[in-house]
Amino acid sequence: MKITAILLAAGQGTRMKSSLPKVLHPIAGKPMIWHALEAIKHSTTEKPVVIVGHGADEVTRFLGDSAESVLQEPQLGTGHAVMQAEALLKGKTDLVVVCYADMPLLRGETLQRLVETQINNPGAMSMLTVFADDPRGFGRIVRKSDGTVSAIVEEYVATPEQKLIKELNVGGYCFKADWLWDALHRIPKNPQKGEYYLTDIVELAVNDNLPVQAAVMEDAEETIGINTRVHLSEVEAAMRVRINREHMLNGVTMLDPASAYIEAGVKIGRDTTIMPNTYLHDKTEIGEGNVIGPNAIIRDSKIGNHCKVLASVMEGAVLDDDVDIGPFARLRKGAHLMDHVHMGNFGEVKDSTLHPGVKMGHFSYIGNAQIGSNTNIGAGTITCNYDGEKKHPTEIGEDVFIGSDTMLVAPLKIGDGARTGAGAVVTKNVAEDTLVVGMPARAIRKLERKK
Ligand code: UD1
Ligand code: CA
Repeated sequence: MKITAILLAAGQGTRMKSSLPKVLHPIAGKPMIWHALEAIKHSTTEKPVVIVGHGADEVTRFLGDSAESVLQEPQLGTGHAVMQAEALLKGKTDLVVVCYADMPLLRGETLQRLVETQINNPGAMSMLTVFADDPRGFGRIVRKSDGTVSAIVEEYVATPEQKLIKELNVGGYCFKADWLWDALHRIPKNPQKGEYYLTDIVELAVNDNLPVQAAVMEDAEETIGINTRVHLSEVEAAMRVRINREHMLNGVTMLDPASAYIEAGVKIGRDTTIMPNTYLHDKTEIGEGNVIGPNAIIRDSKIGNHCKVLASVMEGAVLDDDVDIGPFARLRKGAHLMDHVHMGNFGEVKDSTLHPGVKMGHFSYIGNAQIGSNTNIGAGTITCNYDGEKKHPTEIGEDVFIGSDTMLVAPLKIGDGARTGAGAVVTKNVAEDTLVVGMPARAIRKLERKK
């Protein structure tokens, strides 16, 4: 059986007061519509179709290959929106799931239940409903005496009695495709607003003697739709609770989940502790037994096992195992700290590999460099990698001791076992096991290396 989703995303989202299309506003780091597409994956078999209108170009660009997009221009209501997909889908799918792209908390399981309800329904459509005390302007569900749905009444036309109905239209539907394409053309133009409302299709089904079944949702939180930035923040908070809960159930400790800001898609291994005020963004992957934070901001980075990241910022960086950084370390793109590296306060590393056991305790900048194992980088060391036009590499060997405040003027190679004196300005390559001092640094004697 072929099942295809149509996501409605053409509306203006006026109340967001934004130049960004509403469905591209991020929730847990991913555009609102990304969440809707994720939820829909579980219950459909075909590529989804997104109805775009306001901000169509931007939305379509975001969608890429993940969905087909169809333009609705002008926007004449939710029924008219679904109709735009007819040319693309007619004869190509058995069932059609329709939902609104501004409900990012709707779960995949819920949509699956909707589809199952329709599969067991002799009629042509099923829909999601929820019982709630706060009607939030949603359409009210009127039921027949046999328990099937007889109508959705929008709030602005509801009678005072209908307004008291606690069962609401969530905005998720599943249709038999053949019936849907025909019925869409029979939806009457709304006399007050001049639009075609998908909700009016319920009465068409009832008149066709096709029972409309409701799948009643238990968690009203899933139905929060976003119309303003207040709703946006409510959904963000709810999504954060959901994401953090999942990590905790998978073995991650959180001292204060309310202050752990973890984006959708971030991976964290067991027995890792997330301390307060930690931000984990994009494709970050964290292994087991780490302590992250407090006050860590980590984006697109990989962390192995048993590392500590205290009050530090990482972006596009990699830590292997047993690495500790911070407080106040900054790792930029291409920084790779191998096993047992220690990086203390006020250091910056970019496009560089620190091989196992490197120590870099205080106030250093390392850029475009390779640093051999067990080398010590003294306080205040700087790789002078930029001559105003180009970046140049620095290669430091194993067991090297770079004295405090050394300036390493790249391109530069420092041999294994070499040392630099405090304040040296090194402009020429240094041979193995050699001590250099001064400005510019000159060799003064040969060294014996301790093994
Ligand atoms: C709709 C339902 C209402 C339900 C509520 C739940 C209708 C008529 N009413 O009302 O019963 O309780 O959702 O949130 O469907 N859209 C288009 N093209 C259009 C109009 C809308 O793509 O021409 C899209 C919007 O971008 C939005 C969605 O459809 O994603 C819903 O439209 P909206 O205007 O927000 O409907 P509601 O008034 O919330
Ligand atoms: Ca809405």
